[in-house]
Amino acid sequence: DTVEWDAAAAEKGGYDHYMLKEIHEQPTALRQALSGRIDLERGTADLDLTFPAGFLDSLDEIQFVACGTSFYAAHYAAHLTESFADVRATAELASEYTVDGGGDPRRTLTVAVTQSGETADTLGALRRANGTGIRTLAVTNTLGSTVTRDADDSLFIRAGPEIGVAATKTFASQVTTMALLSVFVAQERNALSAADARDVLTDLRGLPGAVQQVLDDAGDVREAATAFVDASAYFFVSRAHGYPVALEGALKLKEIAYDHAEGFAAGELKHGPLALVTEDTPILAVLTEGTRPEETLNNVAEAQTRGAPAIGIVDGSVETNSLDTAFSVPSLGPVTPLVANVYFQLFAYAIANQQGRSIDKPRNLAKSVTVE
Ligand code: AGP
Repeated sequence: DTVEWDAAAAEKGGYDHYMLKEIHEQPTALRQALSGRIDLERGTADLDLTFPAGFLDSLDEIQFVACGTSFYAAHYAAHLTESFADVRATAELASEYTVDGGGDPRRTLTVAVTQSGETADTLGALRRANGTGIRTLAVTNTLGSTVTRDADDSLFIRAGPEIGVAATKTFASQVTTMALLSVFVAQERNALSAADARDVLTDLRGLPGAVQQVLDDAGDVREAATAFVDASAYFFVSRAHGYPVALEGALKLKEIAYDHAEGFAAGELKHGPLALVTEDTPILAVLTEGTRPEETLNNVAEAQTRGAPAIGIVDGSVETNSLDTAFSVPSLGPVTPLVANVYFQLFAYAIANQQGRSIDKPRNLAKSVTVE
């Protein structure tokens, strides 16, 4: 007897694509990101980071710089940092980042967020920050990568290797690790009480289980996606820290399905994009607590009036009977949209898979972009 054995399939652990395997690895990746970094009793995030005395306390601004999916993780992190740490926090596209007109470099921290640690645009932004004497921190998945050598300090997201060109588990691990960072910075600045920090840390601890719950629903997403596979475009909307997740949901569809997809701040729909909405443009919304779901639901209704089918990711914080399709996530405070994102990953995968796309290696794209 001979047994057919295909090394590549074995590495994929029985999944059809690395991307699907990596989507399913998220609970493990998140456990790794959190491991040993939470002290619930004391209400602290324990990161192996040492800054000069008084540095975090006297900061005027934290700038996150990144590209693509890492930029959306950075955007999410900037929201969390502003809300916990009482400091101005911005996310900037690395390719657009300049240090001109910035504040006092001694009171600025620039965080370069890059899964690979080798993205030329991000390394370029880091170099510009270093050149002005700004203290820099790398948030990366890759030990020994260029970014870890070029930045003053490094924080690892511990997601494990990601083979699929489309970033999935690394996005989840980036946001989670940077949520810990925002609590860490908040503590140093005395901006978050131990009780409030404990709430955030408890939400973070709930992530692996909540993501697993969504993964258990993968069959329903696949089925729902069947109805939308011929759509002419897909629009993703939300507000606040749901907005970067809308942008990320759209990017996944573009990358792997080669379909037109856009993420919008829900309030912007009526300022132009609504002209694109038809019955062939499903609208996907994050409608979870803290993302101002009532307002977004009103914007979604405007699209529905034009015939667009509406799919919402909901957590029971608002009445969502008007939606055509709803998927539920457990409420995990500020990290609920990160759980909602797993539905978007599964949705993009299902749409791309039904069209027979080259999911792990989409046309024209590389895993790591080493030219500016
Ligand atoms: C994400 O799915 C893309 N492959 C891409 O946008 C990527 O996130 C970007 O190129 C940045 O990569 P990095 O995290 O390795 O810096």
